[in-house]
Amino acid sequence: MTHGRRFAHPPHPEAIPLSLYVHWPWCVRKCPYCDFNSRRAPKLLDEEAYVDRLLAALDRQIEAAGVRGRTLRTIFIGGGTPSLMTPEAVGRLLEGAAARIRVAGDCEVTMEANPGTADAARFAGFRAAGVNRLSLGVQSLSTPILKRIGRIHDADGARAAIRAARSAFENFNLDFMFALPGQTLEELEGEVAEALDSGASHLSFYQLTLEPGTAFGKRPPEALPDEDAAAEMGDMVESRLARAGFERYEVSGYAKPGRRCRHNLNYWTFGDYLGVGAGAHAKWTNSEGVWREAGERVPSRWAARVDAGGTGAVRRRIPLEDLPFEFMLNALRLVDGVPSGSFRDRTGLGLDAVEPVLGRLRAEGLMADDPGRLAATPRGLRFLSDLQEAFL
Ligand SMILES: C[S@@+](CC[C@H](N)C(=O)[O-])C[C@H]1O[C@@H](n2cnc3c(N)ncnc32)[C@H](O)[C@@H]1O
Ligand code: SF4
Repeated sequence: MTHGRRFAHPPHPEAIPLSLYVHWPWCVRKCPYCDFNSRRAPKLLDEEAYVDRLLAALDRQIEAAGVRGRTLRTIFIGGGTPSLMTPEAVGRLLEGAAARIRVAGDCEVTMEANPGTADAARFAGFRAAGVNRLSLGVQSLSTPILKRIGRIHDADGARAAIRAARSAFENFNLDFMFALPGQTLEELEGEVAEALDSGASHLSFYQLTLEPGTAFGKRPPEALPDEDAAAEMGDMVESRLARAGFERYEVSGYAKPGRRCRHNLNYWTFGDYLGVGAGAHAKWTNSEGVWREAGERVPSRWAARVDAGGTGAVRRRIPLEDLPFEFMLNALRLVDGVPSGSFRDRTGLGLDAVEPVLGRLRAEGLMADDPGRLAATPRGLRFLSDLQEAFL
């Protein structure tokens, strides 16, 4: 039975870029603000067995999604702290992926790293294994602040990791957080200056959010900057980076020309992606619909599911009526939004599905008044979650 008829404008899956996300769910220890699927690594961690299961799950997902004939444009090894892996395991993972599905010659291969697990030899090993972009979680360059947010490294450790990143990678990102406990605008200005001096091609500045269920969510730290102070910090970051040639292209993402993160851009433009590992997400399009998989989050349960012959994940088709929200949730994070035509190409729905809401949001000045684009205005970006929810 085919449900293809249910699309008003059936998408062409082979024209949708395909990525791969691999999740490594362990860290040295859990940071108190973090709600990613991560936990302290056990003493005896069998990375060989984890990589074997990643590849078994990938094989089955490629089959289930019917994407064997497509080409991977980007790969992202995220976490957790994937820099806990040995370069040998990373090499085996990347070779194993390439043995199962075609990988583009210019594939962007990113790996996340924590400065507490970094040294130059290790980074060189990752580079030799096929990683060509590193994303380093610096968070702050103030030792007292790093202590307050429970990081495993101090400021000099972060600086050493930045030097190691620069020695091994031409293309690297640094993650910072701001509006951190006890942080002042002047301190943050100093960090921005160091970030601009670091040789990074991409910078991410995330405002600290207190996530429910985390240690900080339950018991907020003292001396948090208030909303006005946080907004002032965000404005300062944006203008300083712009002056230095880093364009803000996403809510928290800044890049030098040509250095936007292609993997994340594929998420935000509602592209397709395979996803393997504990807690990993996948999304793909075929003639029957748009599908999602959500991986079991607990590593031992994920492993048991894979050993039983599955992908370790729960699969579901996204109901057609949910597609507009899912599309906008991603697209509106981009400062320039997306071309209007991509709504139809990626969701299989006509723009008439969102026309009334779109009209209202344009009239309210939350979305750009441009029929050729779907984009938030600067005001819309500031109230992004309200804007996204309008499409629910
Ligand atoms: C999965 S972590 C990747 C890096 C690595 N695990 C590390 O922490 O060094 C992704 C990034 O999200 C940001 N982040 C995590 N939790 C956050 C929160 N509660 N508020 C704001 N940013 C957060 C941090 O900048 C972090 O580097
Ligand atoms: S190291 Fe990164 S992923 Fe791990 S707990 Fe800390 S912020 Fe989360």
